[in-house]
Amino acid sequence: MLDIKVAAANPPVIRREDYREPDWLVPDVRLAFILDPAKTRVSARLSVTRNGTHARPIRLNGDGLAPGAVRVDGAPDAGWHMDGADLIIDLAGDTHVIETEVEIAPEANSQLMGLYASGGMLCTQCEPEGFRRITFFPDRPDVLSRYSVRMEADKARFPVLLSNGDLVESGDLGEGRHFAEWADPFLKPTYLFALVAADLAANVDSFTTMSGRSVKLAIWVAPADLPKTDHAMAALKASMAWDEHVYGREYDLGEFNIVAVADFNFGAMENKSLNIFNSRYILADPDTATDADFDAVAGVVAHEYFHNWSGNRVTCRDWFQLSLKEGFTVFRDQCFSADQGSPAVKRIEDVRGLRAAQFPEDAGPLAHPIRPESYIEISNFYTATVYNKGAEVIRMLHTLLGAQRFRAGSDLYFARHDGTAATCEDFVRAMEEATGEDLSQFRLWYRQSGTPRVKASLRHDPASERAHLTLEQTIPPTPGQPDKQPMPIPLRIALFGERSGGMFGEEQLVLLGENHREVVFDGISERPILSINRGFSAPVTVDSDRSAADLAFLSAHDDDPFARYEAMQQLMVDTMVAAISTGKADHRPVIDAIRRTLTDPALDAAFIGEAVLLPSEAFVGDQMLVVDPQAIHDAREALRHDIGVGMEQAWRDAYDRCRANRFEHTPQAKGSRRLRTIALGYLIASGASDGASLAKAQFDDADNMTDRQGALGLLTNIAVPETDAALAVFYNRYRDNGLVLDKWFTAQALSARADTMDRVEELARHPDFTLTNPNRLRSLVGALSANQFIFHDRSGRGYRFLADMVMQIDALNPQTAAKLVPPLGRWRRFGEDRATLMRTELERILARPNLSKDVFEQVSKSLG
Ligand code: TRP
Ligand code: ZN
Repeated sequence: MLDIKVAAANPPVIRREDYREPDWLVPDVRLAFILDPAKTRVSARLSVTRNGTHARPIRLNGDGLAPGAVRVDGAPDAGWHMDGADLIIDLAGDTHVIETEVEIAPEANSQLMGLYASGGMLCTQCEPEGFRRITFFPDRPDVLSRYSVRMEADKARFPVLLSNGDLVESGDLGEGRHFAEWADPFLKPTYLFALVAADLAANVDSFTTMSGRSVKLAIWVAPADLPKTDHAMAALKASMAWDEHVYGREYDLGEFNIVAVADFNFGAMENKSLNIFNSRYILADPDTATDADFDAVAGVVAHEYFHNWSGNRVTCRDWFQLSLKEGFTVFRDQCFSADQGSPAVKRIEDVRGLRAAQFPEDAGPLAHPIRPESYIEISNFYTATVYNKGAEVIRMLHTLLGAQRFRAGSDLYFARHDGTAATCEDFVRAMEEATGEDLSQFRLWYRQSGTPRVKASLRHDPASERAHLTLEQTIPPTPGQPDKQPMPIPLRIALFGERSGGMFGEEQLVLLGENHREVVFDGISERPILSINRGFSAPVTVDSDRSAADLAFLSAHDDDPFARYEAMQQLMVDTMVAAISTGKADHRPVIDAIRRTLTDPALDAAFIGEAVLLPSEAFVGDQMLVVDPQAIHDAREALRHDIGVGMEQAWRDAYDRCRANRFEHTPQAKGSRRLRTIALGYLIASGASDGASLAKAQFDDADNMTDRQGALGLLTNIAVPETDAALAVFYNRYRDNGLVLDKWFTAQALSARADTMDRVEELARHPDFTLTNPNRLRSLVGALSANQFIFHDRSGRGYRFLADMVMQIDALNPQTAAKLVPPLGRWRRFGEDRATLMRTELERILARPNLSKDVFEQVSKSLG
């Protein structure tokens, strides 16, 4: 008993430097499942071979498993023993056959890792270490095996039996039971194993690959949901074609299955030829999904499909290399989505996401490099840093090398490492060898955490017609990394003439590889204005001495759409920060810039929508030394009010202009919907007397979820009779649709109204709230902690609520509980009173007995 407690309080730390090759390999594995929600029998037959010369036993990882029988080479084994949850067997020779049997209870599996039940079906989630909850096995990504899988189940209850690879055989067994056998010809690690037993229907289609092979595509959902799968199917086919065109990568099996499940810890999972998805990233139709939902479906479908090469054919040697597959695959799905729609808007969305999730992570107690050095629980490292900063690092390589040379590098990487488990170093080396580029300093991006700051100042000498740009980089200290080396930072830079409005020469790619660098520009005949980090060419923060007038100039004249958006954002942030620190607000420049953007005929609605949107309260907070949620909220609301009042007619015009008669799924219509709700938001902010009724009318008349949810979000923010009426209508209409009901919870949790905390606590007692569905949890608890103004209420109620939730959820689903912790870990960014309250809640969690190592790691590091 005492031992268990000590182990829980001091879970072992796994270090990258301790990596050792596996002692034993498992070239072949045969699994047999007798499936039943209450009691599933798993028989495993492993052909094992000793790896190298050593006398060590084989360690088969287990998690909550009790070995029913252990046989070696067909005979019952007497020599096995348990080490904690793992099964250890001494083996005399170099090759053996090990057979084990276990019983598991999928319906009792609330962690949603391993084999579990969701909505009447059985499915698996094995990444990163879920396979050990199914059977004893060396559960690490560098053990690659050929799988064959036999499944038996009740035919009426589970007519569909799926696993990886090709269907080899299937048939009836009598007494209402049937079986299916699947074989996957590709080597794969445990984390890519999957099976599904379900009563589902499929949207079936096909794709002909570049070499002319026909692939059968199937998306499996409840029969009633079939009409909502067309968008995912179109995205799948587009992804398959895109990977052929852009990377020369072809699909490699006869079929590709996707299954949608309601209870899922993450977005989706790239299991070989059997992707399993959180249903929110599959199901979409105009009545239930917003335009953003549609885009997310396409993006995640593409992401998981792209993993077939960047993840499956070439996998990760160990979990420290996670960004090898995730960073690269996010970069690939970002480029795909950019090619399918508006590259400028996609880039803006991705950078906004990076700043909202990754920058705070990099600035807090959980900061880690994209290739971490250590972990307690690897599930905690599926982070915005590994995924999104990881993608930015790959994007920088793409920028530095150019598209063609980058492709040569990726070709070499895939050719060289196909069928193996590789490292981030392997990837960089392939890029180096294919291009002849020296990437030694670039490797720092894999090792150093923290968001670099670049200070840029531009000096003009009219006499010599020269401009001097001084660039300085500093990288803040992060946990375990007090001192940093300068990183290579690729900055796309251009200078514009203040008077002429034109660009001097061409855009330049400046590589800032030292602490300090000067760049001289010749032929600068008039005062230049600096456009820097165009397209967000590096994941850094730029501090420049550009005035409000310069930023306003760029917001009107820069030819790089991202830079234009960025100038606008900077102008808005500077305006709010100045208002907060000086108490004096000059809103004029922002209003003028918004007016110019809104009425610029050269711009499309989607871009305008992004550009006129104020940065979030959280983002403003990130720019301040000490976050003052109340002051930020007040400053932002005051600015919103003035933008609304100052341009009321312009917003009305924009609102009317963007009014569509009938839903259309085109980029233009999408942009119009976006701008329409933003315009309505400013109208409401102006205090216009018809604001609420316009919103209610939009809500009532909407023929699509984008308009409906947009109006609902605006209404829940204000205290008017229309709010509760709309919430009731929405609830009654969608009470049976879990994904839409999530939006109902979220809209209320995101409200800035004074009674929001009361509502949230009430909603946590609502019959439709449940701790067992991660989407529902995030829709309320995740949304609340994203609501800076309410979550950080000085009473500490938000903190207490979150801590209570974390503790309750931890008992059921540690992975999901741990993901809710980071907002409490940001206490250093707040004033004394709030910091104390936040720490108190973290300590309360830490004191709880039987904490999972997932939550233990997040909380103990957060207290730091
Ligand atoms: N590899 C998955 C992806 O990014 C991530 C994933 C799916 C995951 N399910 C998970 C990560 C469960 C941790 C736990 O595509
Ligand atoms: Zn992924």
